[in-house]
Amino acid sequence: MNKSTPLREISSIMQMTPQGAGKITRKLETSMKGNIRHLPPQTVRELFEQRGFTYPKKNILFHCLKGGASKTTLAYNTAYRLSQLGAKVLLVDLDKQANATRSFEITQPERVFVDVVMGKCPLEETIAPISEFLDLVPSSFKNARIELELINKKQNPQTFYDKIFSTIRPKYDVVIFDLPPDLNHNTYLCSIYASTICIPTNPDEYSVMGMRMTLESIQGIQDEYKNLNQEVFIVWSKYDARERNSFHYITELKDVQNATIMPVVVRADATFKNAQAQKQSVFEFSKKSNAREDIDILAQELIGLRDFFAPKANA
Ligand SMILES: Nc1ncnc2c1ncn2[C@@H]1O[C@H](COP(=O)(O)OP(=O)(O)OP(=O)(O)O)[C@@H](O)[C@H]1O
Ligand SMILES: [Mg+2]
Repeated sequence: MNKSTPLREISSIMQMTPQGAGKITRKLETSMKGNIRHLPPQTVRELFEQRGFTYPKKNILFHCLKGGASKTTLAYNTAYRLSQLGAKVLLVDLDKQANATRSFEITQPERVFVDVVMGKCPLEETIAPISEFLDLVPSSFKNARIELELINKKQNPQTFYDKIFSTIRPKYDVVIFDLPPDLNHNTYLCSIYASTICIPTNPDEYSVMGMRMTLESIQGIQDEYKNLNQEVFIVWSKYDARERNSFHYITELKDVQNATIMPVVVRADATFKNAQAQKQSVFEFSKKSNAREDIDILAQELIGLRDFFAPKANA
């Protein structure tokens, strides 16, 4: 999987001209595709770090009780984009539907998360390397047993995920979890491990209801464990400017507490489905699309790149 990024996209993140960025990358590894200069993730990382940017450590959940709200689409494409931007990423598929796993053309993984829960293997043994900066903990229908296993097992909710991830966690900057559309024991334990919870929400009645229930459950967990210190975002997805309802839901949602509305709205775009059909991320599938633009901004927001490179007002 070739995951390099056009130089002009990186120069735009750094608020530089492509010529300026070209100069400072002269001694770094780059490649040409046609006549366009591309930067591999390692070069992007070196550039950002030279400028003083530190990749944060985050455990990011894409979580919503409502089915079909865009959890997998956002988790998969954001993981891909973050790895292009030089972050070391582990994507953890916890959904027995295994949609994220199939997007990497993995159909029958030998080991999945339930094997770890059952003590059959450590997490390391489930990991499928996707590219230099992106690994996957795959899923399969076998994960349908997770709930049963958790009920039969006594565990300390505050240390359960910590223990499972402790040996591999230092290897990654960002761990992204794609959750099933459930509120169950596993999503509860995983929510305790999260530093960032993204609730993908579509501008429609049922989806907003699902988002509110998800928020309520997160609030319950935060009331139970006062030291979690999590950021919670509502991420609008499938926004269609031509639909009156789309606009209505987005502008009317003002009364949510303890959650921030992500400043980027992911627009409805057939590129997502078309890329999925080809088992590709939107970054491989299209050179220019709304999908690509919106996920790029979402990825940057999640690791603080946009804030870091934003022009600072004169003090
Ligand atoms: N912004 C978008 N624009 C257009 N289509 C989208 C968008 N986001 C997701 N989709 C499509 O909506 C469908 C459901 O998305 P997805 O599988 O990501 O949802 P999910 O929340 O993971 O579902 P589940 O709850 O079943 O896990 C997919 O076909 C996907 O391609
Ligand atoms: Mg899904």
